[in-house]
Amino acid sequence: MRMKDRVALITGGGTGIGAATARLFAEEGAAVCVTGRRKAPLDEVVAAIKAAGGRVVAVSGDVAKTEDCRRMAKETTAAFGRIDVLVNNAGTSTLTRADEISDELWDETIGTNLSGAFRLIRAVLPGMIAQGSGSIVNVSSVLGQTGMKGAAAYGASKAGLDQLTRVLAVEYADRGIRVNSVAPGWVHTPMNRSVRDHTTLYDRLKKRHPMGRFGTPDEIARAILHLASDEAAWTTGAVLSADGGWTAT
Ligand SMILES: NC(=O)c1ccc[n+]([C@@H]2O[C@H](COP(=O)([O-])OP(=O)(O)OC[C@H]3O[C@@H](n4cnc5c(N)ncnc54)[C@H](OP(=O)(O)O)[C@@H]3O)[C@@H](O)[C@H]2O)c1
Repeated sequence: MRMKDRVALITGGGTGIGAATARLFAEEGAAVCVTGRRKAPLDEVVAAIKAAGGRVVAVSGDVAKTEDCRRMAKETTAAFGRIDVLVNNAGTSTLTRADEISDELWDETIGTNLSGAFRLIRAVLPGMIAQGSGSIVNVSSVLGQTGMKGAAAYGASKAGLDQLTRVLAVEYADRGIRVNSVAPGWVHTPMNRSVRDHTTLYDRLKKRHPMGRFGTPDEIARAILHLASDEAAWTTGAVLSADGGWTAT
């Protein structure tokens, strides 16, 4: 069991990559807190993990709000005594050209994907510093490293997240805290439902990956597990591509 007796807070844990990560971490022995704005998907994940004998709680909240992030950290610690792992997975996506994007959509994208992750990190850092250990995994994207039409806000948020990973890895290495990113290619999750309904775009995106297909949430969860666990004990500041070869071309 690679996460035995660890406590993990996973944002966006009710659906897609976050839900797969929560289930995998619980299977590997972690006590898990899943968070998100909607209660119903969180309840489903909690029920599935409990049915499999795992330890899990859910906290509803918005990562764009500092108070909610503090509450997520506080309630996880209240439930399980500490936080060993933070997975900053909550995210929102938009493909909107720069000349068309509104201030509101720009701010929402950066506020969730980049500032939201930063708020959670700030909320868990005091506990990790006090215990002298911790592992933070940020879920970024290939679109933080490669250009795509319409991805100004999303790509900038994910590139910013990867740079936050590097800076914080350096800043907290001597406190026993590792910080890494997983950068997925396109994955079958609710985020991409509309893309899959658009046959031409879907085919073009599949072919853009040298492996010729989208990834699965579980494939990304396994990359997150690797970085979160002691398997990656000497890895910090890394951006791990889990992208079917997208960034290799
Ligand atoms: N799918 C892909 O192709 C792909 C590729 C690269 C990177 N990623 C990244 O992977 C992560 C997970 O996405 P996914 O593909 O699994 O899609 P998803 O199923 O839509 O998951 C996104 C999760 O984030 C939560 N969330 C969104 N905004 C939030 C907010 N303001 N506060 C709290 N929670 C919020 C959502 O829950 P609520 O709506 O209930 O709040 C949802 O559970 C994201 O960071 C995404 O950018 C995905």
